[in-house]
Amino acid sequence: REQPESAEATSNATVGRSGEGQRGDYLTTAQGVRLPDTDHSLKAGPRGPSLMEDFHLREKITHFDHERIPERVVHARGAAAHGTFRAHGNASSVTKAGFLERGRETPVFVRFSTVLGSRGSADTVRDVRGFAVKFYTDEGNFDLVGNNMPVFFIQDGIKFPDVIHAGKPHPDREIPQAQTAHDTFWDFVSLHTEATHHVMWAMSDRGIPRSYRTMEGFGVHTFRLVNAEGETSLVKFHWKPVAGVHSLVWEEAQIAAGVDPDFHRRDMADGIDAGAPLEYELGMQVMPDSEDEMFEGIDLLDPTKIVPEELAEVQLVGRLTLDRNPTNYFAETEQVAFHTGNLVPGIEVTDDPLMQARLFSYLDTQLTRLGGPNFTQLPINCPHAAVNDNLRDGMHQTLIHQGQAPYLPNSVDDALPTTATEAEGAYVHRPIEVSGPKIRANPVSFDDHFSQATLFWKSLSRIEKIHEIEAFTFELGKCFSQTIQARVLQSLAQVDAELCAAVAEGLGLPAPLGTPAEDVTPSAALSQIPPGPGPIA
Ligand code: HEM
Repeated sequence: REQPESAEATSNATVGRSGEGQRGDYLTTAQGVRLPDTDHSLKAGPRGPSLMEDFHLREKITHFDHERIPERVVHARGAAAHGTFRAHGNASSVTKAGFLERGRETPVFVRFSTVLGSRGSADTVRDVRGFAVKFYTDEGNFDLVGNNMPVFFIQDGIKFPDVIHAGKPHPDREIPQAQTAHDTFWDFVSLHTEATHHVMWAMSDRGIPRSYRTMEGFGVHTFRLVNAEGETSLVKFHWKPVAGVHSLVWEEAQIAAGVDPDFHRRDMADGIDAGAPLEYELGMQVMPDSEDEMFEGIDLLDPTKIVPEELAEVQLVGRLTLDRNPTNYFAETEQVAFHTGNLVPGIEVTDDPLMQARLFSYLDTQLTRLGGPNFTQLPINCPHAAVNDNLRDGMHQTLIHQGQAPYLPNSVDDALPTTATEAEGAYVHRPIEVSGPKIRANPVSFDDHFSQATLFWKSLSRIEKIHEIEAFTFELGKCFSQTIQARVLQSLAQVDAELCAAVAEGLGLPAPLGTPAEDVTPSAALSQIPPGPGPIA
């Protein structure tokens, strides 16, 4: 099987394959038969019924009938771009991953997305944004499937179907389409206080980014790095936009959603066409590997927690440049398949229970979405590293495999692939000790649901705090149930009394009793927020 070797090669492979269906000067059927007319079906007389015999009519309509594939169960709306990742080389002391060696250039494909809306929803809704990067490295594909917020709603992936059911449109009327503003979402959040930190981010200006080029990205989970000596460390990945972090204000976001629902994808595509690539630095917070996987009192396996940059500096290890638009949305952006299990030697996952479920989910959903197990043969998913697997047959097989014995060892075929040693580049898992009773429970350290939500609130400037209060008030104001609103207020009281009181006032509800908020006069709450640096001029 021919493997493309560079970004250009991917492009050529893509064009080459699509070109295969578009060779020749004449319009043909899928079988290559030239057509005299594609506007009139074959009929029994000009006014007669169409004939079953019309193979062109049937082929054209049948193919059209099957043009759509299921949209992604989450992150359905997205836009993507090709580019290159160039490593600075300073990460080699902590990881042996080849694509992080000094000066190494690796082709990438990046898809940005919203989480909850359908494929046709608007770009500027308040939501989390996906930031998924596929590195076509010489050692195989590495996917860093991240978001624009560093924490997640839930701590255990077994709750993922629940949080998504709560956030997606209501099943009766399919309203609302792509906003977090409804009863089920807030019901979930108020009953799962672990979601509080994430909701603080979602209700902040981070929930309505100005542009993909001004958005941070985060790997969220803690990963384990392995260097050439076999030494390990724990790491959190960041993407830092070279253009800085910018958001819309809510009024702009709402107007853009109506006036130009394609606001973000248009901005990216037009910018690239105009010669203004999107640029990001890949950053790493490196923490020592330890048996308890804690750092400065923070449980590194808890995806609702960040490691503050004051405690572990974000070191920049390479630059991502997105400078080429896809030529075909369906072939590339729609068919790309990211998977957290696509790892390369030098990068391993940890036992974060959210990550553990993701490792199962992506491949599983893609079997349905992309129609069977052979989607790695699609040009956009095809590794640039040489592939020689013993996987055979299946729906949409496009390869003609050679030989008779796709198993190892065998004594039948002459040309056999052999397994590699670690020195030859094999992905060998670190022999990390795992033990413990079988139990459905979280560690006690996962019980802290509010301290980092408070930390986040305290980090905001005055204007950002006002935006946060307005966002909570607006979104919670869409809830029909006062019981749910009151439960959310109780969580907010645990975060910050002023925040809680101001939102309560906006909703026309009393701040909850028996919480720190009882000491705060709601009307005074906003004025109690100390003046910050104010809006950026
Ligand atoms: C899709 C990120 C948690 C299941 C995606 C995408 C991103 C993403 C960026 C879009 C990929 C694309 O552009 O094609 C994240 C992050 C998570 C998270 C950062 C938490 C830190 C989860 C969990 C599950 C899950 C816990 C399930 C247990 C899925 C599925 C898709 C998806 C099924 C659709 C994939 C496809 O159809 O190709 N996720 N996700 N995600 N995610 Fe997640």
